[in-house]
Amino acid sequence: MFTLLGSDPHSLARRGRLVTPHGTIETPVFMPVGTQGSVKTVHPAELKALEAQIILGNTYHLAVRPGMEVMREAGGLHKFANWDGPILTDSGGFQVFSLGKIRKIKEDGVHFQNHVDGSPMVLGPESAMEIQATLGSDIAMLFDECPPHPCTFEYASTSLDLTLRWAKRCREWIDKNQPQTNGQPQLHFGIVQGSSFAELRARSAKELVAMGFDGYAVGGVSVGEPEPEMMAAVENSIPFLPHDKPRYAMGLGTPPQMLEMIARGIDMFDCVLPTRLARHSTLFTKNGTVNIKNQTFARDFGPLDEDTHPLCHGFTRAYVRHLIKAGEILGLRLISLHNLHFYLSLMSRARKALEEGYFNEFRKEFTANYKTHTS
Ligand code: GUN
Repeated sequence: MFTLLGSDPHSLARRGRLVTPHGTIETPVFMPVGTQGSVKTVHPAELKALEAQIILGNTYHLAVRPGMEVMREAGGLHKFANWDGPILTDSGGFQVFSLGKIRKIKEDGVHFQNHVDGSPMVLGPESAMEIQATLGSDIAMLFDECPPHPCTFEYASTSLDLTLRWAKRCREWIDKNQPQTNGQPQLHFGIVQGSSFAELRARSAKELVAMGFDGYAVGGVSVGEPEPEMMAAVENSIPFLPHDKPRYAMGLGTPPQMLEMIARGIDMFDCVLPTRLARHSTLFTKNGTVNIKNQTFARDFGPLDEDTHPLCHGFTRAYVRHLIKAGEILGLRLISLHNLHFYLSLMSRARKALEEGYFNEFRKEFTANYKTHTS
């Protein structure tokens, strides 16, 4: 299922290949986020043109709307969303924590009122796995609790115990139901938690690995902690994860952070930044982010960045600025396409660098050029 094709002699970086029921993924990989079954403003044919290998969907959002009856009738998320490539679905708990105001964490799952019509719902290990089986995603994530940052050791430890009991219940549900998609077994990834505590990260990883999953994610990162803590959370998890299984850092990150994570042994990423920042008129460039609304671009008839995707060829910064200022939707679409291309091509360049043995130089050079702005 996962083949290691090579590794970097100077870091823990790996070049791999993951076979899923709807297609093969070359790693390291960036996965565009399509929470509601749509990568915001982007057509599936454009995702293919951008060479997106896999997209994300979310259990919570899709269970609330359109609901699983519609999804069953539609024949699953691939058909419903008209995307025939691989899909990874997150298990929903994390989104309940960020969206639902009224929520209670109990042994059987999370009790909350959904954000659409306020009706009471429960999402737990069995229902999260069942919904993901109905969605027919290629990779389904286990149901977990992501502790807030900061939190005490006691909170993180008790939370981890619950996450591990939920993981065991997910394992049992999977073994009993053996969900399939496209005629092949759905893949299931465990999620390492443990907040900023090395001892908890180690325990989390070891116990999940003992239960045996198809891949492992590092969760509970990029939740407001300082960057060194985020790096440490990954460094404290990776040594306990098997070499021959894919590793996924959830909800990350900026372009330099992704390269740092690859160097620490991560293979897969998802992040809302390219599409979310597009909605704030922010463009990724090799020198960092820029806000296209800035007056300095009014007469800038150069391309969006040195490296642009063919879908963005011929469009100038001045024109895209004009579109945004005029409220024209094409502006938002062009920035989304450009930003996704930036992330996806960063990963394909990282893969090439790994294949050809210059990943370390590539990472250093990219990061030296890239400045993190907040614009
Ligand atoms: N997305 C970002 N972080 C997390 C996490 O810790 N758990 C889950 N399930 N999804 C996430």
